[in-house]
Amino acid sequence: MNNEIADLFKKHGSDKLAHNYTDIYFSYFKELKDQKLNILEIGVADGKSIKAWSEYFSKSNIVGIDINKIDLDQKGLKKENIFIHEGSQSDANFIKGIISKYEKFDIIIDDGSHLPKDVIKSFNLLFPSLDSNGLYFVEDIQTSYIHFFHGNPFDLKYSKTHMNFFKHLTDSLNYQEIANPFYRKKMYDSKITNISFYHNMVVVKKGPNNQESNLIMNHSYEDKRYLTRLNQKGSENKLKYYIKYKILYKLYTFFLFFVNLIKKIVLLRF
Ligand SMILES: C[S@@+](CC[C@H](N)C(=O)[O-])C[C@H]1O[C@@H](n2cnc3c(N)ncnc32)[C@H](O)[C@@H]1O
Repeated sequence: MNNEIADLFKKHGSDKLAHNYTDIYFSYFKELKDQKLNILEIGVADGKSIKAWSEYFSKSNIVGIDINKIDLDQKGLKKENIFIHEGSQSDANFIKGIISKYEKFDIIIDDGSHLPKDVIKSFNLLFPSLDSNGLYFVEDIQTSYIHFFHGNPFDLKYSKTHMNFFKHLTDSLNYQEIANPFYRKKMYDSKITNISFYHNMVVVKKGPNNQESNLIMNHSYEDKRYLTRLNQKGSENKLKYYIKYKILYKLYTFFLFFVNLIKKIVLLRF
């Protein structure tokens, strides 16, 4: 199948071609081409990608935001399906205004400042406006690894980079499986169905994720196991199972919880 997105990036001179994003985009967008969508790109610059999206998704609204003023005449961006706004991706009021104007987005692409704080803040601000089954792309994630872009190449696991933000987000895919009775549901739990990592790009797919665990009930392995054993073996062994799962197993869980709590306090890791 011909990759039309590559052809359009070539035609408009977009550097997304050199970044090798075309195959990734094509794999997600080839089914969506003829739909009527709301698409938001953070970072307009010369409008090269905006023009490519405007041609590829000819039935869709293409919304671009940029911290700098964009001269629509000079950049050739005066088209029926292109809407450009000036403002910062991390300005909550500006983003709120964009959301109230367009309501829902099917696709969001972050090609803005690429600074960790901005990327994380705009994801948090914009995710609620992503429609169910919507896709959120974050480009140039390599800035996470470069201290000159506020990344951190020296602490790959615990620094507050956007790469670590998305790595931690993967736990939301499996939040039902976390056997910690003190676990509290987090903002993105049950709302994400897929997170894909590529070289310098992350793609998050929004959607309902409420499938129950086969091993855990209400974040407790012991409670689920107790009920399973009762169902399997009948109630004549109820006391035995109660002591085993509801008391001994729970004590072991609480012991490990406190060991890990102390470890977190000593290492200042939360
Ligand atoms: C890499 S360029 C965008 C290129 C464009 N998407 C393309 O592919 O042709 C990055 C753009 O992000 C804009 N930018 C930087 N910081 C921003 C911020 N905080 N909010 C919104 N846009 C920002 C810059 O002004 C610049 O135009």
